[in-house]
Amino acid sequence: MATSTQLVTPLIISLCLLISATAAYSRKPHPRRPCQELVFYFHDVLFNGHNYKNATAAIIGSPQWGNKTALAAPSNFGDIAVFDDPITLDNNFNSPPVGRAQGMYLYDQKSVFSAWLGFSFLFNSTEYVGTLNFAGADQMMNKTRDISVIGGTGDFFMARGVATLMTDAFEGDVYFRLRVDVKLYECWY
Ligand SMILES: *[C@@H]1O[C@H](CO)[C@@H](O)[C@H](O)[C@H]1NC(C)=O
Ligand SMILES: *[C@@H]1O[C@H](CO)[C@@H](O)[C@H](O)[C@H]1NC(C)=O
Ligand SMILES: *[C@@H]1O[C@H](CO)[C@@H](O)[C@H](O)[C@H]1NC(C)=O
Ligand SMILES: *[C@@H]1O[C@H](CO)[C@@H](O)[C@H](O)[C@H]1NC(C)=O
Repeated sequence: MATSTQLVTPLIISLCLLISATAAYSRKPHPRRPCQELVFYFHDVLFNGHNYKNATAAIIGSPQWGNKTALAAPSNFGDIAVFDDPITLDNNFNSPPVGRAQGMYLYDQKSVFSAWLGFSFLFNSTEYVGTLNFAGADQMMNKTRDISVIGGTGDFFMARGVATLMTDAFEGDVYFRLRVDVKLYECWY
């Protein structure tokens, strides 16, 4: 025969679980503080017909009114470029790269300079091994632009966050340097 204690104990336990679950749900969302912050630069040298050896990017698609050695007017609209750019820890083109930024940008607005980016950082250095994957709209005329860090592998397994881009330098259509402030809000390591 069950004693009253035997019946009451599970009841109290369930009640405690219910209260703690309710407390967890009513708690405020996570404070929006990154679990990891990293700063990188990457350097893009676009092929212009004369710089094959130095070029790290090439126009692979252009609108009917453009070509593959010059970005199309107006505002580069319709051009798609593929890149394999060195990543450095400071803004010096000649610093030893810690990885490669590989992917593409496509110019998708006729009225202003605006691109859509899809690329990965591939790290294979003593500091980091793995990848970070990025995607998002890059309204290039804005001083800072946020794109999504949609995932990662290796040291960045399952990472997610936001990357703030800043155009650190540009030389005509041939060279630009982006500063990338990576803020991860989900870290497994
Ligand atoms: C490509 O387009 C640019 C700008 O219109 C022009 O200056 C250049 O001569 C063109 N290049 C070729 C190979 O047609
Ligand atoms: C990473 O670097 C190591 C050591 O230099 C090399 O053996 C390996 O092939 C590299 N991996 C990639 C994916 O480049
Ligand atoms: C870019 O700047 C314009 C003008 O300052 C602003 O209206 C727009 O919201 C900005 N876009 C982003 C994505 O920050
Ligand atoms: C390659 O391009 C970069 C960026 O424009 C420039 O600083 C560097 O001098 C170039 N190197 C050569 C060999 O042309």
